[in-house]
Amino acid sequence: MEKYFRQYGIFQFGGSTELCAQELPLTSPDNQQVLIKVISTSVNPIDIKTRSGLGYVAAGKPADAFLPLGYDVLGEVVQVGDDVTDLHPGDRVIGMVGFAAHPGCYATYTYAKASELIKVNQKADASLAGLCLAGLTAWQALAEFEPDGRPVYVNAATGGVGHLVLQVAKLRGFEAIAVSRRIEHALFAALDIHAITPTDYLAQPRKGILIDLVGGEFGQRMTKNLQVGSELVTVPTVTKDQVLETARAQQVSGRGILVEADQAQLTRLYDAEQAGQIKVVVDQSFELHDIQQAHEYVEQGIHCGKVIITA
Ligand SMILES: NC(=O)c1ccc[n+]([C@@H]2O[C@H](COP(=O)([O-])OP(=O)(O)OC[C@H]3O[C@@H](n4cnc5c(N)ncnc54)[C@H](OP(=O)(O)O)[C@@H]3O)[C@@H](O)[C@H]2O)c1
Repeated sequence: MEKYFRQYGIFQFGGSTELCAQELPLTSPDNQQVLIKVISTSVNPIDIKTRSGLGYVAAGKPADAFLPLGYDVLGEVVQVGDDVTDLHPGDRVIGMVGFAAHPGCYATYTYAKASELIKVNQKADASLAGLCLAGLTAWQALAEFEPDGRPVYVNAATGGVGHLVLQVAKLRGFEAIAVSRRIEHALFAALDIHAITPTDYLAQPRKGILIDLVGGEFGQRMTKNLQVGSELVTVPTVTKDQVLETARAQQVSGRGILVEADQAQLTRLYDAEQAGQIKVVVDQSFELHDIQQAHEYVEQGIHCGKVIITA
C-alpha cells in the first residue's frame, strides 16, 4: 500500500484557484471506519459554496486550517477498523461520506464510517459516485409523500439533484413534471418526462408538490404560485427561511431538508440504478488533479446531471 495520499481542498476561501492539494500519511482507520482507495467522486454545489466561504460548513472552518472537500465516493476498501464486520478489503463501495462537517472525498484515499457505505458490484463505474449525495437528497425530498394524484413539480430539473428527483418520483408512482429553463434538452425525452418552462409554470396557479432546488427569489416566485393544498420542499439551505416564509403566506405547508447518510435509502437507489430504473446522467468527467477546472465548469451552470471526478 502507498504511504501517502493526496487530498484537495482549501486553506482560504475564494475562487477555484484556492483549491490545492496536500499530501498526508496513510494511517489505519478507526475502529468503526473503513479506508477507501477512491475511484471517483463528484462535484456538488455545497463544495463550491464552501470553497467560496458560504454556508455552515465554511462557517465552522478555523482560519488558515486546511479544509478538504468532497462528499461522494465510489472506491475500493483497502482496510477496515476492528469493529467493522460487514465490509472487507477488496469490496467496492459507494457512499456520502462525512456530511457535512468532515468532507474529504476529493482525494486518492478517504476514511469513511462503515455505516455511510454500501457494497456495490465490482464492475461499478465512476458515475455511481454521483448517486450518493444527489440521490439521497432526491430520495429524502420525496420521502414524506405518497402518490395522491398531485403532480410533483421539480425546478432546476436538469441539475444533479433535479434529474434524480424526477426519476425517483416516477419510480415511486408520482406524476413528475420538470420545470426547466432548458425544456428542449434531450434529457427529458430520454427520461420520458414532461417539461415546462418557469414561465409556463407561472402562467396558471398550481396545486401539487413543489421540490424547489433553486431557492431564493426564484423559489419564492414558484412558491407564490402554489394553491392551498399544495406542499413545498425547499432544498437550498441558505435561502430556506425566505422561501418558507412565502409558503406560509400562501397557506402552503413547507419544509427544508438537510440530506443525511442512509444505507437503506442508498441501497434502494442503487438497486433501482442496477435495474435500469434510475440513471445517473454524467455531463463530464475530470481527473482529480483538474479539480479547479471541474469547479469552474460547474460554476458556468451549463451542466446536465452530474460532473464526476476520477481519482
Ligand atoms: N439541503 C441539502 O441537504 C441539499 C442537498 C443537495 C443539494 N442542495 C442544494 O440544492 C441545489 C441544487 O443542487 P444540484 O446538485 O441539483 O445543483 P446543480 O446541479 O448545480 O443544479 C443546476 C441546475 O439549476 C438550475 N439553475 C441554475 N441556475 C439557476 C437560476 N439562476 N435560476 C433558475 N434555475 C437555475 C438549472 O436547471 P435548468 O436549466 O433545468 O433550469 C441547472 O441545470 C443547490 O443549491 C444545492 O446546494 C441541498
